[in-house]
Amino acid sequence: MSISVGAPEHITSARGFGLGTTGCYDASANNRGIEFPAVTGHPLITLPEWKALESHAKVMREMHMRDLFKNDSDRFSKFSFKLGPLLIDYSKNQITNETLSLLIQLADARGVVAGRESMFKGAILNSTENRAVLHTSLRKSNKNGIYVDGVDIMQEVHAAQDRMKSFAGDIRNGVRKGVTGESFRHIVNIGIGGSHIGPRFVAEALKSTEVSELTVDFVSNLDAVQLDDILKPLDPAKTLFVVCSKTFNTCETISNAEYARKWLVSKLGDEAVALHMAAVSAYTDRALAFGISKEYVFPIWDWVGGRYSLWSAIGLAAIIVRGFEAFERMLAGAEAMDRHFETAPLEQNLPVLLAMIGIWHADFLNTPAIAVLTYDDRLKYFAGHVQQLDMESNGKGVMVDGTPVRTGVGPIVFGGNGSDSQHSFFQFLHQSPRHIACDFIVALSGLGGKDKIRDTLLANVLGQTEALAMGSVTADLSGAPDKLKPHKVFQGNRASNTLLLDEITPYSVGMLVALYEHKVFTQSLIWGVNAFDQWGVELGKELANTIESVLRGGHEALKELGETSNSSTAGLAAAYLVAKGRVQ
Ligand code: F6P
Repeated sequence: MSISVGAPEHITSARGFGLGTTGCYDASANNRGIEFPAVTGHPLITLPEWKALESHAKVMREMHMRDLFKNDSDRFSKFSFKLGPLLIDYSKNQITNETLSLLIQLADARGVVAGRESMFKGAILNSTENRAVLHTSLRKSNKNGIYVDGVDIMQEVHAAQDRMKSFAGDIRNGVRKGVTGESFRHIVNIGIGGSHIGPRFVAEALKSTEVSELTVDFVSNLDAVQLDDILKPLDPAKTLFVVCSKTFNTCETISNAEYARKWLVSKLGDEAVALHMAAVSAYTDRALAFGISKEYVFPIWDWVGGRYSLWSAIGLAAIIVRGFEAFERMLAGAEAMDRHFETAPLEQNLPVLLAMIGIWHADFLNTPAIAVLTYDDRLKYFAGHVQQLDMESNGKGVMVDGTPVRTGVGPIVFGGNGSDSQHSFFQFLHQSPRHIACDFIVALSGLGGKDKIRDTLLANVLGQTEALAMGSVTADLSGAPDKLKPHKVFQGNRASNTLLLDEITPYSVGMLVALYEHKVFTQSLIWGVNAFDQWGVELGKELANTIESVLRGGHEALKELGETSNSSTAGLAAAYLVAKGRVQ
């Protein structure tokens, strides 16, 4: 695969880039005409920049945020940043100017400048799968060519977007109808992982005040109960399925798609499949073989990873129900964040700052988990999206060169709706000795309720972040019985970022998602891991295939399983087979 940017004749023009002071990236490792970062030699933890952070951490661990704020009244203005509709306050972290400066030196040493440049230029960053990482090209309005294997992918991207726009428009305005001549009213997305989590988030986040005539549901669960429940109230004549699968051979998705196809055929006959099922896949032939008509198959490319695919036709269900214009605004927001990430100096670069503060938590402050807390219902699926984005990208055990990681790597990510979470796991956030860093995300104005409700919402966010950072310094314990006092103490010194959006709009949502994408990528450059493969999902899948044949095979197969696996797996399989009456 040869990759280049600009005119086709540039394909073979190799370009050297600054590799930071320690030379931990080896450009010569790539012979495809453009360099890419590859970790070599220098273990991260022996770098002078790393060691400097270790020494600094010893001092900072003893510092309380109460004192950091008391000693510096400018802390908020120093450690907050406004970019378009997004204000980020990162002052409630155990950091000082020195901390940030040391972190940026580390980013520099790890070649973050070179790394981000190489991503935008289409280097093979996903080296284990020999793939470029070009999801950013999906939101590039400038049509200048990016060439992959001599093909101008920007032409393909824009051609696909034109098709998505007209297809979605035709469904929305009833020009494209079902087999009985009725307009579509129900869209059902079938997918899993990035082909489910991302588009489900987008469909929710792009909701406006407009009352849509279209409903949308997302199905991923293999158990068929979810799909059954969704289908029960639907009118098949008005239902369109969008089967999203980059590979078009993911077990859960194909199983649900087959179930949906059977349902359609039983209700409307064989000819319904061609008009009621669309697909998005990098394997058009597989979608066609399934019975989906060519006009209803939309492309995705191997240079778009699953968890980065919501910008592609994988977002089709969301585009149909929310309109292409909203989707385009989301792309524009993401593009604005791309340009910021690509061009801003590291010390003023939001994704880089968040990434480096995350490294600080994970590797130096023993805080390896992040809670993503959203205070707007439109963002209710955001934590789930960031969870896949981050944990599937950076949850790695080896570095790009195959050697074991010796640092924190990707954090544990969880979270959800902030209001609900306050009444669930916030107890842990405030008082457990295990610290968890938090990202609070809230908008200055919202769609629902009156201003007073927004006051309450904002007050909750500020109250929580204040309590986490400062602890019970302002709480009055004087009236409490002595034996209760220790239970009412809040130590504080717990980290949080607050992301304050002007409003939840498609544009600000686009910026937000791209911010986290680049944060995760930047961290992968520091830790030296490949953020774009996911080999860790393979073994369980392979074993499931073997075990499935055992469960269908009865006695002999079970005996063999007992010999090849272990008593736990074999015992559980036997319990299942006995319950099913397949073995005695
Ligand atoms: O779980 C692994 C994974 O490959 C994800 O990365 C991906 O988003 C998901 O499975 C679905 O894959 P596909 O779109 O090929 O069905």
